[in-house]
Amino acid sequence: VEADSKPRGHLIVVEGLDRSGKTTQCEMLCEDIQGREKKVKYIKFPDRTTATGQMINSYLQGKAEQNDQAIHLLFSANRWEAVQGMLDELQSGTTIVIDRYSFSGAVYSAAKENQNLSLEWAWNPEIGLPQPDLVLFLDISSEDAVKRGGYGEERYEKEEMQIKVRTLFKHLFSKLDHLNVRNIDAGQPLQSVADQIWQVYLKLEESGPAYGNPPSFS
Ligand code: TMP
Repeated sequence: VEADSKPRGHLIVVEGLDRSGKTTQCEMLCEDIQGREKKVKYIKFPDRTTATGQMINSYLQGKAEQNDQAIHLLFSANRWEAVQGMLDELQSGTTIVIDRYSFSGAVYSAAKENQNLSLEWAWNPEIGLPQPDLVLFLDISSEDAVKRGGYGEERYEKEEMQIKVRTLFKHLFSKLDHLNVRNIDAGQPLQSVADQIWQVYLKLEESGPAYGNPPSFS
């Protein structure tokens, strides 16, 4: 590390089931980070605004069909096309909070009913993407997720699928044991979840600034 090099921002990923409160918690975390006079940017995958994102959106809404491998690779491409922008932001000192990332990418595809794609196959196109400094896994029982007002209309928002997704998330994180993954009890009230997340974030800050580009997934 060069003595005069500027610290980069942190790369933070928030993962969880549908209905786990991810998006609300991302917003609260961003506000709290901003409150500490730090630059922060919120990113969400899939980013439905790009060309790949529009194809993904049509698929999720049931307006288009895609073969399992093709849609999987589109989700991955939707991340790859964002990499340079993310690295530039980090280098300018901005912390990035990402709402879903490669972990959702691998797990949702592998959780499909037809069991077409293995978790290992599904992880492969993620190799080389920037590795987060911190992953917050918003853990909620599948029953609690259902109680929170039911699922929406999109593909994958079905109870059996969500149960598989939860198991696969845990399996994937146990295999990626070199990553900094923190389990958050997201069955708690909103503010208590936010408090848990904030304590974990403060530990990341205390561990000191980061320099250079983040390592890549291997
Ligand atoms: P969203 O509700 O957070 O916008 O995510 C849309 C759905 O897409 C959600 O059910 C999770 C799923 N998904 C994948 O299947 N692969 C991915 O790579 C990502 C980011 C999400």
